[in-house]
Amino acid sequence: MKPLLFCPVFLASLASATTVTSRPWGEIDGTSVTLYTLKNQSGASVSISNYGGTVTSIIVPDKNGKMADVALGFDTLAEYREKSPYFGCITGRYANRIAKGKFKLAGTEFTLATNNDPNHLHGGDQGFDKRIWNATVKDSELVLNYTSPDGEEGYPGTLKTTVTYRWTEKNALHINYEASTDKPTVINLTNHSYFNLVGEGADTILDHQLQINATQYNPIDPTSIPTGIAPVKDTPFDFTKPTAIGSRIGVENTQLKNGLGYDHNFVLKTSDDGKLMKAAILTEPKSGRTLTVSTTEPGIQFYCGNFLDNLPGKGGKIYKYRSGLCLEAQTFPDSPNQKEFPSPVLRPGETYRQTTIYQLGVSR
Ligand code: BGC
Repeated sequence: MKPLLFCPVFLASLASATTVTSRPWGEIDGTSVTLYTLKNQSGASVSISNYGGTVTSIIVPDKNGKMADVALGFDTLAEYREKSPYFGCITGRYANRIAKGKFKLAGTEFTLATNNDPNHLHGGDQGFDKRIWNATVKDSELVLNYTSPDGEEGYPGTLKTTVTYRWTEKNALHINYEASTDKPTVINLTNHSYFNLVGEGADTILDHQLQINATQYNPIDPTSIPTGIAPVKDTPFDFTKPTAIGSRIGVENTQLKNGLGYDHNFVLKTSDDGKLMKAAILTEPKSGRTLTVSTTEPGIQFYCGNFLDNLPGKGGKIYKYRSGLCLEAQTFPDSPNQKEFPSPVLRPGETYRQTTIYQLGVSR
């Protein structure tokens, strides 16, 4: 690999006040990888690589205006390739799990990698998070394209995918997804950013307050496959009011046991009507930082970093157990096998569309 010089290229600032710069970020098998930074006039920024469409940093102010990076991640491409627990990436073609790596479409059975024994997770061995996406900058937006060939990772149909990232003056990261196929297939795309609103590398997220706009969730079996839809009322899964994540995580509960903590899909709606709704609000009391997630998706996976285990991250900081959390907008896990869930099937002539907005803010 050639030595890389830090040499940002100024790419766009025309239609919006957000500027986009880029710099080389290594190469994989002769293909170069780039890191883009979208910065608004206040100086708040996000950095995104075309390797996996990975959000590598989100730098925003606290209630006193002090900036911090609230996204867990690494400094180098090599670390993302070697040891990333899906930090910041686009997961697909099917984010989350498919039971035993099998599903049927129109009578034909498809077999996928069981990379999360005994199930399929996040698109398989070489999911969308490990692909180099084609990147262009247009009107201060980062537009990423990836064409997944028919049969890639066992999925049917050539899937043409576009993911557009926009960073606003108000510190909102808009993510728009679009896809089309030439054969019936299943699709579930999400962004897998891990947040700690104190700043990456800070202590656990157990004091963060979370509110989720869901009266139902998907209980899971011991292999994390949904067993149906159940009410959150009178369970540790009731986040209908702002609640500290750590306040009930230690109680005796089969679901918390099965997920090793929170690692469950919350039901925002039971049909995929495509309307944008406010899904979750996360608040960190000391910094005052907030994160509001809005999405068109029917579900949101709340995963509280149960598998983080003293992982060295940016600047050598240690990411300890539960020091980051994900709020992954998605359709329900294992929906290719569960008829009562919103359908994840995409057919030729249809367009898959999803919008998710991560709005960062402060409360005083
Ligand atoms: C899943 C977790 C998994 C994690 C991988 C999450 O989306 O729900 O079970 O361990 O991704 O980092």
